[in-house]
Amino acid sequence: MFFDPRTDGMKPAPFNHSIFTSLVVPRPIGWISTIDMDGVVNLAPFSYFNAIAADPPCLMYCPNGPKKGTTEPKDSLSNAEMTKEFVFNLCSHDLREKLNKTARHEPRGEDEMEKAGLTPARSVNVKPPRVADAPIALECKYLRTVRLPRSSSGSENNMILGQVIGIHVRDEVITKGTIDISKIRPIARLGGLDYSVLEPENVFTMKRPD
Ligand SMILES: Cc1cc2nc3c(=O)[nH]c(=O)nc-3n(C[C@H](O)[C@H](O)[C@H](O)COP(=O)(O)O)c2cc1C
Repeated sequence: MFFDPRTDGMKPAPFNHSIFTSLVVPRPIGWISTIDMDGVVNLAPFSYFNAIAADPPCLMYCPNGPKKGTTEPKDSLSNAEMTKEFVFNLCSHDLREKLNKTARHEPRGEDEMEKAGLTPARSVNVKPPRVADAPIALECKYLRTVRLPRSSSGSENNMILGQVIGIHVRDEVITKGTIDISKIRPIARLGGLDYSVLEPENVFTMKRPD
């Protein structure tokens, strides 16, 4: 089948739900910590997230639409734009329930790391704390926001770009000079409410042709 989302929407027959999230899978999850101007911590997952350059290392995440039930932007957008910093925390399988808790829209001024039962750890080069339990955390300086086309309801979509300026790797996940994926078991987003977990038996290697 073929459809044009501009005229057919994202749920043409025979689909029974908005299908876009099932079409680009699996998506890594950026678990993004920021602080507001008063230092209150916000933590939220973003599956419109990825690494976008290696040298210098850069990341992006997309806080789309408003905070639920309001016309205000999501805290992960306004905090990064105001303080010019954010941290990516990698979510391992054992942290999945806590990650899910941090998707709840808490009123501004609530510490979302504390509310999810997570322990903050001090960052080195930025002010937002990292999630202490996350095996990897990347401290980022905000570069810019790219405004994307608005949603069908008129709300804003935004891509935040950042440069990694500090890297935390838990010592136990380093084996033979590399990251041991079996000790991390990162989770990723699929369509609907589905997730996947990366297990070592599903890893394969291919040599590049040149
Ligand atoms: C696994 C997962 C992935 C998500 N990905 C996104 C995303 O890419 N963009 C987005 O705007 N919201 C996404 N959400 C919803 C946000 O996490 C949620 O709106 C969050 O509360 C952000 O609001 P805040 O920045 O005000 O805390 C996702 C939720 C979950 C559970």
